[in-house]
Amino acid sequence: MAGEVKTITVVGAGTMGHGIAELAAIAGFKVYLADINIDILNNALQRIRWSLEKLAEKGRIRESVETVMSRITPIVSVRDGEYSEDLAKALSESDFMIEAIPEKLELKQQLFAFADKHAKETAILASNTSSLPITEIAAATSRPEKVVGMHFFNPPVLMPLVEVVKGEKTSEETVAATVDLAKKMGKQTVVVKKDVPGFIVNRILGRLMESACLLVERGGYTVVQVDATAKYLLGLPMGVFELADYSGIDVFYYVFEAMSRRGFRSAKCSIFEEKFKAGEYGVKAGKGIYSYPAPNKYVKP
Ligand code: 3HC
Repeated sequence: MAGEVKTITVVGAGTMGHGIAELAAIAGFKVYLADINIDILNNALQRIRWSLEKLAEKGRIRESVETVMSRITPIVSVRDGEYSEDLAKALSESDFMIEAIPEKLELKQQLFAFADKHAKETAILASNTSSLPITEIAAATSRPEKVVGMHFFNPPVLMPLVEVVKGEKTSEETVAATVDLAKKMGKQTVVVKKDVPGFIVNRILGRLMESACLLVERGGYTVVQVDATAKYLLGLPMGVFELADYSGIDVFYYVFEAMSRRGFRSAKCSIFEEKFKAGEYGVKAGKGIYSYPAPNKYVKP
């Protein structure tokens, strides 16, 4: 039995990890938030505080910002190139791990092997991967039935969906416990029964971004025309290129590369690749498809 979830370790405190930790703390769980150095952790705590203050202003959290913040303990996950004792201890106290580290299979497998060694026997090990097979991540552990995908969307605090992804050996009990946890975190869930590249949402986004890119590269439209049409006329919450900048051109680059290695075919289009190679990853880099801060990137046509 999975047992009652009280404590969660979130590994990775970046764009996704800090938001996931925030959601878990809002839901009342004790949270360990782990990343490789203290600067990343401090930045994550600042972002969580900013977000909680925004939610508090709008009456969207019941408790004070301080009460929610007090549930989060930051821990440095790596020392001298090895996973730290602090991480081992956090995992040994946790009922759930949610991993949100970079999209590299080898890194994830190393972490899952470590977690398998130190986590409680009953603990579920979840990955926020967007594109890597849960079955392959699970293969690094002795408990593949307890390994599952728990895919949040950016920004986790505001986006309503979590994809719960079943690997080949993930048990129904693990899926049910993960759905339950996502619901306690205020999310709606969709269970992805087949571990296909990109699951559901990134397959849709892959086509959307490919099409937007081709409209510019081959169709003679400008980036601004495509985004303005998508946002103001079609009614999407953001332009397609704006979304790439917002979530990170590097993030999508790795996601689509991993999907393509697993057979998701798409047309060659160089706009995103050039930005990726130039390190122009979007909002976080100050430059991507647009420059930031950019209050008026494009206007209603
Ligand atoms: N926490 C709390 N509040 C936040 C916040 C956060 N993390 N982020 C933004 N806000 C606040 C803003 O400050 C703003 O507050 P204000 O009204 O007091 O000024 C309010 O939310 C509304 O935000 P914005 O004015 O910036 O604009 P929007 O109304 O457009 O909402 C959005 C922002 C929810 C991000 C919306 O634009 C949106 O839904 N965009 C699409 C996002 C999307 O598609 N995400 C999925 C990406 S794909 C992915 O994650 C998969 C991965 O595998 C790659």
